[in-house]
Amino acid sequence: MLKLGILGLGEGRSTMSAALSSDRFTLVQVCDANQQLCKDRALEFGFQNWTTSYDDMLQNDEIDVIAIYTPDHLHFEHVKQALLHAKHVVCTKPFIDDLSNANELITLAEQSGKRVFVGQSSRFFEPAKRQRKDFEEGLIGDLITIESHYHADHRWFLEKEWSLKQSFKWLYGGLSHPTDFIRWYLPDIEEVMGYGMLSANGQRAGLKNQDTMHFIFKARDGRIARVSGAYTGPTQPAARDSGMSCILRGTEGASQADYHELRYSVTTSTGEEKIITWGDATLKHYFRFEGQSHHAGEYQNYLDYFADSIMNNFTAYPDLKEGIGTVALLQAMDESLETGLPVKIDGILKDYNISRASIGL
Ligand SMILES: NC(=O)c1ccc[n+]([C@@H]2O[C@H](COP(=O)([O-])OP(=O)(O)OC[C@H]3O[C@@H](n4cnc5c(N)ncnc54)[C@H](O)[C@@H]3O)[C@@H](O)[C@H]2O)c1
Repeated sequence: MLKLGILGLGEGRSTMSAALSSDRFTLVQVCDANQQLCKDRALEFGFQNWTTSYDDMLQNDEIDVIAIYTPDHLHFEHVKQALLHAKHVVCTKPFIDDLSNANELITLAEQSGKRVFVGQSSRFFEPAKRQRKDFEEGLIGDLITIESHYHADHRWFLEKEWSLKQSFKWLYGGLSHPTDFIRWYLPDIEEVMGYGMLSANGQRAGLKNQDTMHFIFKARDGRIARVSGAYTGPTQPAARDSGMSCILRGTEGASQADYHELRYSVTTSTGEEKIITWGDATLKHYFRFEGQSHHAGEYQNYLDYFADSIMNNFTAYPDLKEGIGTVALLQAMDESLETGLPVKIDGILKDYNISRASIGL
């Protein structure tokens, strides 16, 4: 059994639920700067070992792995501290939001010999897992193109004070999900371009950066892809249009994984058409709190996978390198929004003195 500490108990609530029902982890300690939240979580889960000081958790020799769910702009510092204290790390998305810190983390991870796993939760949702398995088994042939979106009415999120800071960008906070899908299937993106805008709702709410964006990508081998995100307005009924989807178009078939609805559809190489949904037991695994809030089931899946990777000595993906590669792509997307021009990923990597080899490309 590995010993876990959790930092940040907003979304970290899901990780508490996942850790407490895992047969690979013992939850040792949780931490949030907000004392009331610590008390609320203690009551909710009957788990009393909390602290408001991250330093306490870092000094706790019993802990093997720290899972981080603090605001986006703090991830770098919190990951760095965990590695400096010889802990394995799970960090939620977006991994970091500034590539100038990437080389330091690569070096630290190497020196510490500890593993870093990026919690790209959407990969670990049932329809996305099924889509990947079918793809790997050749059910849709070779990939031609991929399209993904994440559209959500996230006006409730703007009550969090950090969401209205200049440092918060939906590009990193939201589009990291569909952009990660693109890199899962087309790891080596050469160039990206896109447009973005701040919607009237976003402006009224006081958001500082774009909340509505469309991007197209070109991979080094010539294949193309697209993603979009819109975060400050209503969405269509979920039965018609999923909040998050990943569509693969292959040489012999096509497939679509939908988020929240637990729905997957595929046309296979034999021409068979299937629409698959999952029942109550699966719903209960994924959604453990009010409505469909939080991501406990996905976190359970990725925590257990990460534990297996440590115990059986294989790499759990996305790892640090893949995570930084996705941040490089997000940063290129950011630059394209600023300049209105296509941006090459190699140029971004060069600007930050990051070699392709060091991030597994
Ligand atoms: N699908 C997903 O994987 C998913 C979903 C939601 C949120 N997230 C990510 O989780 C992170 C947190 O989001 P959230 O919605 O829970 O935000 P939140 O503001 O509700 O929670 C963050 C918590 O971190 C605590 N905190 C901040 N600095 C701290 C410090 N130095 N020491 C101890 N505690 C500290 C805050 O008190 C707060 O309770 C974000 O990076 C977000 O992108 C991921």
